[in-house]
Amino acid sequence: MAVETVIVLAAGDGTRMKSSQAKVLHSVAGRSLLGHVLAAVDEVNPSKICVVVGANRTSVEEHIAEISPSASTVFQEKRGGTGHATQLALAGSTPKGTVLVLAGDTPMLTGQSLVAFLDAHNDGKFAASVLTAEHPDPSGYGRIIRDDSNELLRIVEERDASDDERFIFEINSGVYAFDGAKLATAIGKITNSNAQSELYLTDVIGILKSEGESIAAIMLEDFTEILGVNDRVQLAESAALLRDRINEHWMHEGVTIIDPTTTWIDSTASLSTDVTVHPGSAILGTTTIATGAVIGPRTTLTDCVVKEGAAVLESIATDTVIGEGATVGPFTYLRSGTVLGDSAKAGAFVEMKNSTIGTGSKVPHLSYVGDATIGDGTNIGAATIFVNYDGVDKHHTTVGDHVRIGSDTMLVAPISIGDGAYTAAGSVITEDVPAGAIGVGRAKQRNVIGWVLRKRAGSKSAQAAEASEKKG
Ligand code: UD1
Ligand code: CA
Repeated sequence: MAVETVIVLAAGDGTRMKSSQAKVLHSVAGRSLLGHVLAAVDEVNPSKICVVVGANRTSVEEHIAEISPSASTVFQEKRGGTGHATQLALAGSTPKGTVLVLAGDTPMLTGQSLVAFLDAHNDGKFAASVLTAEHPDPSGYGRIIRDDSNELLRIVEERDASDDERFIFEINSGVYAFDGAKLATAIGKITNSNAQSELYLTDVIGILKSEGESIAAIMLEDFTEILGVNDRVQLAESAALLRDRINEHWMHEGVTIIDPTTTWIDSTASLSTDVTVHPGSAILGTTTIATGAVIGPRTTLTDCVVKEGAAVLESIATDTVIGEGATVGPFTYLRSGTVLGDSAKAGAFVEMKNSTIGTGSKVPHLSYVGDATIGDGTNIGAATIFVNYDGVDKHHTTVGDHVRIGSDTMLVAPISIGDGAYTAAGSVITEDVPAGAIGVGRAKQRNVIGWVLRKRAGSKSAQAAEASEKKG
């Protein structure tokens, strides 16, 4: 077991976010900041995860229960510093094995880096290890102080640092690995004699060193992994960095992304080889996209399943299944519970929700399909409305196989159209249409001869009509 206990520090107030929501609940790439940290932590397979919560306690605890139900939480009522938070998490007990401590606001940190860090810590049998990085702008971070032989001595916070120390570019990432027993002893020895009058977890490093323990500073190559989010500018920066990282991953997996700067794929989505994503598209939530599918431009898919070779052009879909070879768009809005069969079509200016469209069935233009089951090989004429709402309740419509619904039909639910049936264009259908019948639900046309000549005498229409009469 590489690591026994993980402590995530997430009690901070997040003042600089200026938000009513807890900082660690803000999200990038489809996960909360804390969710990214817990996903990375998951990859080191810890036996125990303890999250220290404080600000917005209830909402943070609810979120943790949802995304990481095995994690426990500890409440830090007053922010007494990272050392104080760690003391609360340990609760006076002596943890076995290795303890990993990290912050809840570093969404870029990868599980891979944590695994490598813990391996180096465990292999070296260090009392404590600190993950560090060379940061081009180290201001605000704790600096790594090394001795003449380049060994880690201690960590100094920016506010407590001398002018010389501030020129050090190697920073403390806030990720630590400890021998549990040694951490438990040393954490009791820290004091708040510093610029912020807080208990600093970083002081444990200096204490262990002065006691002759072996400690290590393990440097990360990519400093962007340890960037923390403190305000909305950093939130956007980390979203952009994650976007690039995720896009590069999928491109290496065989996905064509025409414009990676305008393509936003959540870390929870998944794409197959030979998918093409056009500019301005977002692939969000648990969306999966099968091989050969073409997405976009300007398409947003949330929690969708897109099957092989489907094409979705300039559309929005949520919680929708798009069948093999099906086509969607442009300007189509597919809401929750839509299931498009293989080779089906949801065309321009079509809205659908809670409806199943059979294999090869088509809704090509300007229609609303709500609460319906449509069979196979059926065509729904332009501007058809499934009238599902009577003002109080929603009702279901069933349309059979190989049906031809005429343009501008109103299908007033609950209603059923049998296999092979037709409806006449412009019908308001309020009764079931049996298989093979045509439903006609409209007034019979009558022509009032000469009306324009009488009622619109002298108009251009009347003149045109007269000219036409003369021609015979
Ligand atoms: C800390 C480190 C600094 C390091 C930096 C990396 C200390 C003293 N300093 O500084 O060396 O370079 O992180 O980002 O540790 N927290 C609590 N309870 C508290 C205080 C903080 O849970 O009482 C949590 C915060 O929510 C946050 C994390 O601990 O997730 C770090 O706290 P923060 O105040 O941001 O520390 P820094 O000043 O950034
Ligand atoms: Ca911070």
